[in-house]
Amino acid sequence: MNTEIVKISINDSDFDVKIKKAAEIIKAGGLVVFPTETVYGIGADATNPKASISIYKAKGRPSDNPLIIHVDKAEMAEEYAYTNEVYYKLAKKFMPGPLTVILMAKSSVPKETRGGLQTVAVRCPENHIARALIAASQVPIAAPSANISGTPSPTNAEHVIDDMYGRVDMIIDGGACDFGLESTIVKIDGDDSVTLLRPGKITVDDLKAEIRNVYIADAVTDKLEKGAVALSPGMKYKHYAPKAELVLLDCDDISNAIKYIKDENVNNIAVVAYEEDISEFKDEIKNAFYYSFGKRDSEEEQAKKLFAVLRDTDKKNFVKIYAPLPKQKGVGLALYNRMIRAASHKIVKL
Ligand code: TXA
Ligand code: MG
Repeated sequence: MNTEIVKISINDSDFDVKIKKAAEIIKAGGLVVFPTETVYGIGADATNPKASISIYKAKGRPSDNPLIIHVDKAEMAEEYAYTNEVYYKLAKKFMPGPLTVILMAKSSVPKETRGGLQTVAVRCPENHIARALIAASQVPIAAPSANISGTPSPTNAEHVIDDMYGRVDMIIDGGACDFGLESTIVKIDGDDSVTLLRPGKITVDDLKAEIRNVYIADAVTDKLEKGAVALSPGMKYKHYAPKAELVLLDCDDISNAIKYIKDENVNNIAVVAYEEDISEFKDEIKNAFYYSFGKRDSEEEQAKKLFAVLRDTDKKNFVKIYAPLPKQKGVGLALYNRMIRAASHKIVKL
């Protein structure tokens, strides 16, 4: 397939013309990769079953793993899902923004888009290009992250081109994504109660400020038990796995991490380290490749770097990668959730 790459910035004098061209592709059932504030998505008309099927194909994604439908206003969900008070309470505070809400689906959403479920995931992104594209397409846009299934989500156009060139009709290059990890996903349980299915920029505390009961699905922090039913189909698939073995070191004193890595004595390793620790690591372990993970307390900086770091390791053929285990607080919970999956739950307590 021929893939057109189009750079778009809000300040372009021909912004509307470029968006219109992309929207024509969506309306015709084609695939357009576009930026959001979280990660890039592969977009298609969510109401067109054939278009949804071609998303699964382009990603190599199992067809029972449903797609999020992207709307340009919270109210646009009305036509596609059964909304309720909790939805509008969340929407008022967090939409547009990096929140996805699971609702009962209306029949206007084909089963292909829903991965066969009765529910549908709804998100109203904040990114200007994403919103303009949805508005111009006049349909909700189904969009999973624009990576080949199982690799880290793309946070810039280069990542997208690596994975999707030749598999989609158009790639919109809108620069680096602001946040860098996928949206927070919640399921509504009742009048004043939600369950967190995937942590993101909107944290548990952010949700608790609006909703009385915020439960955290076990699979957010733990391994899904064999045979257990996943609340979100994505929970059961391996995610974000780099080619090299990733090991997460759970320690407060970096001298323990240094000792552990030295004792393991593996050749061809990468160390992901907080900025404050890098020089101490380098003094002690000379033959490692180092990635700066940003400042220890700056989880937002780490969120922005994580997927780019994981993707880069795949280009360098390391045998092992060592990284710190994030704390499960605030945005740290989103980092923790992605990193334990990338590491297939290999955590070493030091
Ligand atoms: O930030 C994001 O959410 C990005 C951008 C592109 O918007 N999209 C994204 O989509 O991360 P995807 O498909 O890579 O991840 C969506 C997750 C999957 O794990 C899927 O299983 C889950 O949402 N999901 C989708 N529909 C669902 C539903 N009806 N019930 C439960 N989980 C659902
Ligand atoms: Mg994904």
